[in-house]
Amino acid sequence: MTGALLKHVREHFRTMEGYVSAGMEMTKDDTKIFLNANENPFELPGLEGLNRYPEPQPAALLEAFAKTYGVESDQIVITRGADEAIAILIRVFCEPHKDSVILNPPTFGIYGVDSRAQPANVIEVPLLKTQGTYLLDADGIIKAAKNPKNGVKLVFLCSPNNPTGTSFSHETISEICEALEGHAVVVLDETYAEFAEVGSMTADLETTPNLIILRTLSKSYAFAGMRIGCMIAADTDFISLVRAKALETYPLTRLSVEAAFHVLSPQIREIAHQNIKKLLDERDRMQAALEKSDQVITIYPSDANFLLVEMKDAHGFYEYAKTHNVILRDFSAKPGTENCIRLSIGTPDENDTVLKLLQDFSKT
Ligand SMILES: Cc1ncc(COP(=O)(O)O)c(C=O)c1O
Repeated sequence: MTGALLKHVREHFRTMEGYVSAGMEMTKDDTKIFLNANENPFELPGLEGLNRYPEPQPAALLEAFAKTYGVESDQIVITRGADEAIAILIRVFCEPHKDSVILNPPTFGIYGVDSRAQPANVIEVPLLKTQGTYLLDADGIIKAAKNPKNGVKLVFLCSPNNPTGTSFSHETISEICEALEGHAVVVLDETYAEFAEVGSMTADLETTPNLIILRTLSKSYAFAGMRIGCMIAADTDFISLVRAKALETYPLTRLSVEAAFHVLSPQIREIAHQNIKKLLDERDRMQAALEKSDQVITIYPSDANFLLVEMKDAHGFYEYAKTHNVILRDFSAKPGTENCIRLSIGTPDENDTVLKLLQDFSKT
């Protein structure tokens, strides 16, 4: 499927020439002599291979990603985490001072920061808080995105959502995509998908032309330090455009690419999957223990590796934990998460420390 996303891309990206880097001509062919990139031929001991620039999008890693996510390799752009994909998408789709994005707060802060940096206009359609959980306001999103006065190019959806932990139904997301076909592009951030029972929507990409999905190795594969993620879309012309014109020249370091192969090997993947189970068990244990505390008002249902906890005095507990060297995330002053902290699930020992602190805080 081609063209469905491309037509929403800013005009000059479609017409300009991309940079052809020396790295694009790189192959693993040992019989060739590469004197095209002003590299230093004298390798340093222990740092062999690092004298050479890396391949911008290594074909073998694209294949490994395609296998991991059940898509084709020409539907993927590998990025420095989902973060970089978010920044690229805003840059490629939003005309500064003219186009808009739709966000559904409370949600991941970077969408707003990157949009305002462009600057793109930010239209907020808040999540609906109902019966102890959060829901997408599908009608509100569709209405705002279809209003021609708003000039909406991108709709960011995050499922499971950070910081609420909520998974949104695939039906609702499909309904939004379908209603906006021809009007706007939907970016579904699935950074936490591996922790959720509902899983990913990558299988829907073929039938959902205006959908782009973001994935990352940061969370479920414990790889945040290496900065590897990707965007996936069915429109392969769009994917080619991003690779050719919107990426930094050599975005992925040789070390991170090498490590990514290791992470995606069958042995390491198996361990990563076992660790996801461990994390989910710990999340359940923490939930049950936190519910017993007289400080806790509500724990929102979470499909991710964190809990959003409404407390009698969230800010007070955040400060108390901080003075005892435990850093939580304070959402108490943010609209939609009043009196909440977000607690990442740690090791059993780390989690026990939080529970003990909560007990002590309760007595203060
Ligand atoms: C919803 C969401 N998207 C993207 C990211 C960034 O992920 P990455 O490490 O892949 O850049 C985060 C990080 O916390 C996140 O919560």
